[in-house]
Amino acid sequence: METPHSPAAGTAGTTAPILITSPEQMKELGRRLAELLRPGDLVLLTGELGAGKTTLTRGLGEGLGVRGAVTSPTFVIARVHPSLVDGPPLVHVDAYRLDGGLDEMEDLDLDVSLPDSVVVVEWGVGRVEDLSDDRLHVVIHRTVGDTTDEHREVTVTGIGPRWSDADLPSLAG
Ligand SMILES: Nc1ncnc2c1ncn2[C@@H]1O[C@H](COP(=O)(O)OP(=O)(O)O)[C@@H](O)[C@H]1O
Ligand SMILES: [Mg+2]
Repeated sequence: METPHSPAAGTAGTTAPILITSPEQMKELGRRLAELLRPGDLVLLTGELGAGKTTLTRGLGEGLGVRGAVTSPTFVIARVHPSLVDGPPLVHVDAYRLDGGLDEMEDLDLDVSLPDSVVVVEWGVGRVEDLSDDRLHVVIHRTVGDTTDEHREVTVTGIGPRWSDADLPSLAG
């Protein structure tokens, strides 16, 4: 794939921007993303408030087949959704108030092993990278100059050997 800039060190690949035009399409992207994920994977979601991070995670939870509605974990830092299909649980973290970063994350004392789980962290960049050398960065942008519209652009970047052979282009649908 041709990219305008050379990838950052450790970057395994980046998708072209994926255009999303509705919340339903954002969930569909989450369902496709779920197909690529396995236990121990770490996904960091970046995007302003209302960008659609939780909406994407909802589709991801559907795709993984986990129990419980994925909602905005604003008043809890993390929520564990057990699998209904003998797959990995989804650990959904809102790191917005996780000032202590990783230490605080480990202090959460979640009743689940992170290496056995799929861990999705909203606002995770700059906070929980240390959890894994391998991680997926999902960046959601509103279309420039447009605050009311339902259009979003999503870029997915794999970092580390885990993602070097992953089929990230399949996310574009
Ligand atoms: N294309 C889109 N993708 C995701 N959400 C969208 C989209 N268009 C509009 N929305 C709306 O924007 C809001 C996104 O909220 P949410 O997923 O909680 O964002 P975040 O977790 O990034 O703060 C929802 O109310 C959703 O219906
Ligand atoms: Mg959210």
